[in-house]
Amino acid sequence: MEKMLDIISREVMAAMEASGYDGTYGKVTLSNRPDLCEYQCNGAMAAAKAYKCAPFQIADKVASVLQKNSIFAKAEAVKPGFLNLSLSPDYLAGYLRQMEADGERLGCGKTGSPKTVLIDYGGPNVAKPLHVGHLRSAIIGESIKRIGKFMGHNMVGDVHLGDWGLQMGLIITELKERKPGLVYFEENYGGEYPKEPPFTISELEEIYPAASGKSKEDEAYKEAAMEATYELQHGRRGYQALLGHILDVSVSDLKRNYENLNVSFELWKGESDAQPYIPAMVEKMKQDGFAYISEGALVVDVKEEGDTKEIPPCMILKSDGASLYNTTDLATIVWRMEDYHPDEIIYVVDKRQELYFTQVFRCARKTGLVGPETKLTFLGFGTMNGKDGKPFKTREGGVMRLEYLVSGIQEEMYKKISDNHTVDEEEGRETAKVVGLSAIKYGDLSNQASKDYMFDIERFTSFEGNTGPYILYTIVRIKSILKKYQAQRELPPQAEILPAHTDSEKALMLEISKFNGMMETAFEEKAPHKVCAYIYDLANAFNHFYHETKIIGEQDEMVQAGYIKLLGLTKKALELCIGVLGFEAPERM
Ligand code: ARG
Repeated sequence: MEKMLDIISREVMAAMEASGYDGTYGKVTLSNRPDLCEYQCNGAMAAAKAYKCAPFQIADKVASVLQKNSIFAKAEAVKPGFLNLSLSPDYLAGYLRQMEADGERLGCGKTGSPKTVLIDYGGPNVAKPLHVGHLRSAIIGESIKRIGKFMGHNMVGDVHLGDWGLQMGLIITELKERKPGLVYFEENYGGEYPKEPPFTISELEEIYPAASGKSKEDEAYKEAAMEATYELQHGRRGYQALLGHILDVSVSDLKRNYENLNVSFELWKGESDAQPYIPAMVEKMKQDGFAYISEGALVVDVKEEGDTKEIPPCMILKSDGASLYNTTDLATIVWRMEDYHPDEIIYVVDKRQELYFTQVFRCARKTGLVGPETKLTFLGFGTMNGKDGKPFKTREGGVMRLEYLVSGIQEEMYKKISDNHTVDEEEGRETAKVVGLSAIKYGDLSNQASKDYMFDIERFTSFEGNTGPYILYTIVRIKSILKKYQAQRELPPQAEILPAHTDSEKALMLEISKFNGMMETAFEEKAPHKVCAYIYDLANAFNHFYHETKIIGEQDEMVQAGYIKLLGLTKKALELCIGVLGFEAPERM
C-alpha cells in the first residue's frame, strides 16, 4: 500500500502545480503542531523566494485547490505561509479498511529488491558465561533481523562464537591439572576418544575463571596455557577432541539461554570455522603486495587520505606466526562471501570495537576480500549502565551474568503481578517470564542503539510509561474487550471500520495509518527504536480513546462493531511490532 505521507504529498504537489508553481514545493510532513493540524507543508516559504511573492499568497492559492479535494477535511493557509492539513475521516477510514483487508502485513509491502544480509550478532565466548554485554548484541541483532525478514529480505544471523584463542588453552591446562589421567592428555594415544564430555557445563563455567585467575598470577601456568593453545591450533588430536567437548557442552547451554531470550541464529559458526581459510588468505595478501613485515609482524596498511585520526595498520599475523582476532574476522569474511555472496554484512558489536572494525573493513576492501557491491556495516551499541551511571555490575561489583539478570527481572515481575491480583502460581510465573522479557527488551530497544542507557529495573518493569509491560498491558486490555464482546454477540457481517466519531478515535486511526512507513524506515535506518516509538504513541492513542469511549456499552450496533474492528486492527499492529522486537504478549496479566 502506498504510504499515507506519500499520498498526501502527491496531492499537495499536484495542487502546487495546478496553482502554477513547481510541484517539488509540495512536500508534506507530519505536523509538529498536532493541536492545529495533522500534516503540514512548508513549501510555500521556499517557493516565495523563487517566485518573488508573499508566501501566504502561494499557500492560500494551493489551499483553495486542496479544499476541493475529498481527501482533506481541512486545508488552510496560515501566516506567514504554512499549509495546515487534516485528513477527511472518510478517507482515513477507507485507508484503514484497506490495511485490514491486507491481512497479516497491514498494508506494508515487501521490498521489490530483496537483499541477502548476513548479520553477525550475539558473539558469546565459549565456556565463559553470557554477560550483559552480550545481551545488547543479541537483543538488537535479533530485532534488526526480524525487521529485515518482515520487509522481505533474506536475513541470515550468525552467532560468531568466540571459540578460538587463549581461553581454550586455559581450559585445557586447568583440566590437565585437575584430571591428569584423562586419555586426552596421553601424547601417543592413537585410539578413539570417549563420546561423553569429561565435565558438565557448571564445571566448565567454573574452570575458565579459575584458570584465567591463575594465569594472571602464575607465569609458568600462563606459558603452559599458551603452549596448549598453540598445540590445539596446530592439530594435537587430544586437544581437538577436548575442544569438541567444550563446544558441545557450551553450545547446548548457549542455545538454552538464547531460547529464553527469544533469540535464535541461522548459523552457529565460530571463530574456529574461519581457521582453514587463513593460510590461503594470508598468502594472497602477501603475493598481491598488501601484507608486509613490520617489526616482525605481518601487517596491512589501512590508513587513508583524509583520516582525521591515526588508523593503525591491520595486524594479520603476530611475529610468532599466530593469528589474531583480526585474522579470524577477515577469514570469516572469506567464507561468508564464498557461501552467501551477501549484499551486506552487519556487525552488531559494542561500539568500543569501532576502530577495530574500521581496520578490518578497510583491510577487507583493500585486499579484495569484499567487492564494492557488498556493504560492510558496523552497528556499534552503547554500554548498559547501572543506576550509578557505571557499567552494570552485580551488587558485589562483579560482572553480572545474563541468567541472573533475567531471573531478577522475572522475580520482580512476578511480585508485581501477584500483588495486582491473585494468580495461579504456575500461570503467574509463566506470565512473569513473558512480561519480564518485554521489560528487558523494550528497555533496551527503545533507546537508539548507539547510546549508553541506564538499566533501571524499577522503571523497566513499570506498567506505566514508555515500557514493555505498558505495551503488553495495552494489548491485554484490547484482548479482554474483544473477548467480552465476543461473549455477548457475533460481529455483524456488514461490520466495518467507520469514519472517526471523535478526536480521540481519529488520533488513534492516524497512528495506525503510519505502520507501513514506520516499518520501512526502521529497516532502512536499522532502528528498532523507531518501532518502539511507534507502538508507544499507538498505545497512548488507544488508551486515550478507550478512556473516552464506551465500547461495550455502545448502543448503536454498527458503531460498536466499527470500534471492535478498529480494536482488532490496533491489536494486530501492536502484535506485529512486538513480534519484530522479539517478544510477545500473554493472554492475561
Ligand atoms: N566475542 C566477541 C566479544 O565477546 C564479540 C564478537 C563480535 N563479532 C565479531 N565478528 N568480531 O567481545
